[in-house]
Amino acid sequence: MNEPFHFKASARLIDFMRQADEPGLINLAAGVPGLDSLPAAALSEAMGEAIAKEGARLFAYHHPDGDHGLRELLAARLEKRGVAVKGSELFTTTGCTQGLSVMLSVIVQPGDVVAIEAPAYYGMLEILSELGARVLPLPLGGDGGGVEMGIAEELLSRWKPRCLVICSSLSNPSGATVPEDGREQLVEICRGLGVRIIEDDIYAELVDGGAPKPMRAFDDGSTVSFVSSFSKSISPGLRVGYCVPGSLFDQATARKCQQDLHSAVPTEAALREFLAKDALDPHLEMLRVRNARRRAIGMKTITRCFPAGTRVAPPRGGYMLWAEFAAAHDLAQVRARARAQGVAFALGDVFYTNKPGTSYMRLNCAKATEEELVRGLEIIGSALAGAD
Ligand SMILES: Cc1ncc(COP(=O)(O)O)c(C=O)c1O
Repeated sequence: MNEPFHFKASARLIDFMRQADEPGLINLAAGVPGLDSLPAAALSEAMGEAIAKEGARLFAYHHPDGDHGLRELLAARLEKRGVAVKGSELFTTTGCTQGLSVMLSVIVQPGDVVAIEAPAYYGMLEILSELGARVLPLPLGGDGGGVEMGIAEELLSRWKPRCLVICSSLSNPSGATVPEDGREQLVEICRGLGVRIIEDDIYAELVDGGAPKPMRAFDDGSTVSFVSSFSKSISPGLRVGYCVPGSLFDQATARKCQQDLHSAVPTEAALREFLAKDALDPHLEMLRVRNARRRAIGMKTITRCFPAGTRVAPPRGGYMLWAEFAAAHDLAQVRARARAQGVAFALGDVFYTNKPGTSYMRLNCAKATEEELVRGLEIIGSALAGAD
């Protein structure tokens, strides 16, 4: 039976971020799509329109909870996904990162137990490590459907953590999506045990066929706090995210204000104009087609070039593939070899708080060009063959 434990995050986010734009590197490690898939022209037009309308106001201090019009549009978008909230019940954040860090710092004291998916996003793990939390990793079910419900219920009931952090759609790195018919059940289990859920929704808009109903749709905000951003669906450089903290609204908005007073106004206004002219849905349609094509190329190349027995559960959208190897490989060595030939991938270990039993790697199919993606995977495949 798993027990909660203190841990030290094994990777530093800053090192990944600094590697992101290294010239000439075929970067299959980063968590972002390619520049050509960002709606740069539409965003600069939206920014121009916002500046023309509001002038100097855009460059002054602003309301700490974020641009009023944007908050209303975000609430309307959530309502379409079954979440009944008003704009006044959410606040904008500087990326999803700030939503996570605000909610965790409001909820978690040193030594508190926090349940997480295993594997989980390493940026979130670094925040937990800094907060001195003890983690309770919940294993995934292996069917692409997120945490294994029976084991999760048993562990949550036994340890009653302060909260559960879960990326409900296309989780990073596993690509797992909590099935629509399991969401309410998970919320009810947590509500019954008094466990707060922090639902990270950052990839939901990339799910093929449209964003699922979030877990927050099955709650009134007393159990689920919701964080998201437009970093994966529009542009990471905008740094616009938002948080629906529910009953923790007062503590969360005060903490956010302590951290940075408010988020950047010009980018919020640009996003508001972009959303107001309904530019997001056509953009998402384009992204879903592009991502599906990239994933198919990635899967095909992995089947051709990676060792027999390599498993990749096809995710329901997005651009990440999570590869599991039948044999234990020294992936640090494979990474060094691939790096020497100008290719980067993300080592699976950094997404775990304790060493996993098998070897994994996360591969981004959408940042490099299609030709680079194939070449990069071929190079990793031969580095894997050499490491056997
Ligand atoms: C699951 C998850 N949450 C949050 C973030 C951070 O998002 P942002 O860039 O909006 O701060 C990421 C970035 O990769 C992520 O994968």
